[in-house]
Amino acid sequence: MTSRSEASTALPEPTKGLAGIVAADTTLSFIDGEKGVLKYCGYAIDDLAASSSFEEVVCLLYDRELPSPERLADMRERIGAARVLPSEVKQVIEQLAGSTSPMSTLRTVVSALGHYESNVALKELPPKALRLVGQIAAAVAMIHRLREGLGPVEADPERGHADDFLRMLLGSEPTETQTKALDLYLILLADHGFNASTFSGRVTAGTLANLHSAITSAVGTLSGPLHGGANERAMEMIIKIGSPERAAGWVEERIAAKQRIMGFGHRVYKVDDPRAPHLKSSSQTLWEERGDTVLFDTSVAIEKEVKAAKPLITNVDFYSATLLYGLNIPTDLFTPLFAMSRVAGWTAHVLEQYGNNRLIRPRARYVGKADRTYVPLEQR
Ligand code: ACO
Repeated sequence: MTSRSEASTALPEPTKGLAGIVAADTTLSFIDGEKGVLKYCGYAIDDLAASSSFEEVVCLLYDRELPSPERLADMRERIGAARVLPSEVKQVIEQLAGSTSPMSTLRTVVSALGHYESNVALKELPPKALRLVGQIAAAVAMIHRLREGLGPVEADPERGHADDFLRMLLGSEPTETQTKALDLYLILLADHGFNASTFSGRVTAGTLANLHSAITSAVGTLSGPLHGGANERAMEMIIKIGSPERAAGWVEERIAAKQRIMGFGHRVYKVDDPRAPHLKSSSQTLWEERGDTVLFDTSVAIEKEVKAAKPLITNVDFYSATLLYGLNIPTDLFTPLFAMSRVAGWTAHVLEQYGNNRLIRPRARYVGKADRTYVPLEQR
């Protein structure tokens, strides 16, 4: 026997996708989606993009203050040292690289890294969290080299993070433009309020599960095409379109078929994402240095056509795509590179959650059938 739904029981109407719900306070990043403003700990993203480095931003997110020269040197040293991976983790990468996607391998590596860390009290947790910032970069470089049949390049802890990562990934010295472009990318993607992956990390931390469980949740959540996975799809689209002249027809077809165009639209921003112009300009410099701007010009043409067809904003993933591809980074490494930056914000958020914790546990409204009579198996 079935009867009416129980939807009418006393719970409020759910907010699909938790849109507009404020789930907690944070002292990490501030976003004004109407005006297109992003700040880390009160500092405008434009100023950080112009003058800081990724390591400086990590100091800011961990300390809520810009670092002194000594603190910055200490941060560079700590992140540099963490780019040397434990040998057991190298074995995990050897087994998986090339047989699963880089993002799946990275998720497993983050989980495996937890086996080599002891549980510590909250006040001793920041150095352990910081190690993940260096380790994720080293893991991404190694995953790529091993799956390509290339030998791993050892970390040089003396170097800056962006510079050393490019050397470890590509096996050659990056140019100054390349290092600056990657550093900018890492600065701009380091934190962004309660985006889906950060929120999932905080939900896991909210149960008092350990740091590596929380960051593993975050990596898994980032992988989806509506979140971090959009940069890879955006680049595939730009390559497929291939020239500025073909952008109009392609966009028109896609919009007519009611399909989503990756790199556009955002839950919070109602005007262009403030990170997009910085990524666009750095991307242009990179492609000019390469001496071939066809793919960059194609992306500019796509943006123009999308905006003419629909009131959509350009999000961070669109020009991240041309920037990363301009650095010779294969598209399936784009989301792992996103993780390499966002791990700074993820870990800072997890520490913030532990510091003022309450279990994150919303309600679900049951709308299924009600008051059913159990029928024994032999009578069904
Ligand atoms: N292309 C075409 N139409 C779009 C797009 C898009 N990229 N984004 C939103 N729309 C349309 C939807 O079809 C919908 O139209 P409708 O009301 O006529 O049905 C309307 O805009 C609202 O879309 P929602 O999905 O309800 O918006 P939501 O806030 O839930 O989604 C999201 C935001 C997931 C980012 C969405 O804009 C999207 O799918 N974009 C493409 C994927 C992408 O670039 N993701 C990266 C986001 S940034 C980041 O996570 C780092």
